[in-house]
Amino acid sequence: MLRYLTSGESHGKSLISIIDGIPANIELDIDEINNELRKRQQGYGRGGRMKIEQDKINILGGVRGKVTLGSPISIEIENKDYKNWEKYMNPMDEVDLDTKKVSKVRPGHADLVGCLKFDFLDARNVLERSSARETASKVAIGSICKQILRNFSVDFTSYVVKIGDIKDYNFYDFDYIKNNVDNSLVRCLDKENEIIQEIDKAKSEGDTLGGIIEVRVKNVIPGLGSYTQFDKKIDGELSKHLMSIQAIKGVEIGLGFDLSTRGSNVMDEIYYDDKIKRYTNNLGGIEGGMTTGEEIIIRCVMKPIPTLYKPLNSIDINTLKNYEASVERSDTCAVPACSVVCENVVAFVICKYFLEKIGGDNLRDLTSNYNNYLERLNEMGWKR
Ligand SMILES: Cc1cc2nc3c(=O)[nH]c(=O)nc-3n(C[C@H](O)[C@H](O)[C@H](O)COP(=O)(O)O)c2cc1C
Repeated sequence: MLRYLTSGESHGKSLISIIDGIPANIELDIDEINNELRKRQQGYGRGGRMKIEQDKINILGGVRGKVTLGSPISIEIENKDYKNWEKYMNPMDEVDLDTKKVSKVRPGHADLVGCLKFDFLDARNVLERSSARETASKVAIGSICKQILRNFSVDFTSYVVKIGDIKDYNFYDFDYIKNNVDNSLVRCLDKENEIIQEIDKAKSEGDTLGGIIEVRVKNVIPGLGSYTQFDKKIDGELSKHLMSIQAIKGVEIGLGFDLSTRGSNVMDEIYYDDKIKRYTNNLGGIEGGMTTGEEIIIRCVMKPIPTLYKPLNSIDINTLKNYEASVERSDTCAVPACSVVCENVVAFVICKYFLEKIGGDNLRDLTSNYNNYLERLNEMGWKR
């Protein structure tokens, strides 16, 4: 089973992740992983932190000569900012606990409940881990998963559909998204200028913006996931992983909430013309908790960043007096960055289910099992 754990604080020495279950003999393109990390750091509307960090992976185990060994892979991503924070964050020595103390908890962040739950009077102990800095690890892991799946023609892309009140109502082909999205400062394909103005306006007013992201996956074989048990359904697993990304508050598959209509409007009717085909893909490539072989289409909503430069009403958890919330250095809008995170998180889930369905702890076995499966699907009328 493919699984991972991450560790590390936002201003700690580094982020660490361990991924278990990656098959052997997969050649890794390290530059590509670093490039994905770079994309996560970009996007108009980010705060000052991203100018300090230039994320790069340091693989500590599980890979030899850039080729996976089938053993757990451990990855470190160093926090360049640690040198400025060592006196507050050093795990191995006494630290200054006062200077960076956060007691005026921020509504919408994990600060208040984290303090209540873990018995802290300093929300620094909470926010260091609840911070979305952790998403760098998720991107590195997803990027490895993409490289495995590329051997089987699976491809991923994502773009920003909406930021604040500016929405793109177009539907795009996978290749159009893939070829154009990286040219945009906000990973959108339409209304870039309006979106940038929206971000500038929010920033000048000390406010923040949420938005909607779309992730697409092409060339997924039918039958990943299963209807036979609730925790085998791939739509459930995708939602779980996406909803646990910091600030994601909703996940839609296919038309999502717009499916609340007549069946005749939305079911993807089937026909045969040399192979099994569909007239539409309103259900976003998943039926009965299984991939259908159509493109996977998922939308995620990201809430606005909870740290506002024009602070919201809150309390000091030490004195219980009413105050304005603390301001940590923060993004105005991280929806473009979150699009890169969502894409890589989807890659992890698809890879996990692919490995479970196809089986094989090395690339050669995987490939022959995959070809056998395709051959049988072919006999039953399904072709790519
Ligand atoms: C890529 C990304 C960047 C983020 N940047 C910030 C930030 O700069 N400041 C902030 O307060 N929250 C930021 N967030 C959101 C918080 O991490 C998130 O709201 C918080 O952890 C509470 O979790 P919840 O929103 O899921 O309840 C970011 C989220 C993502 C995905």
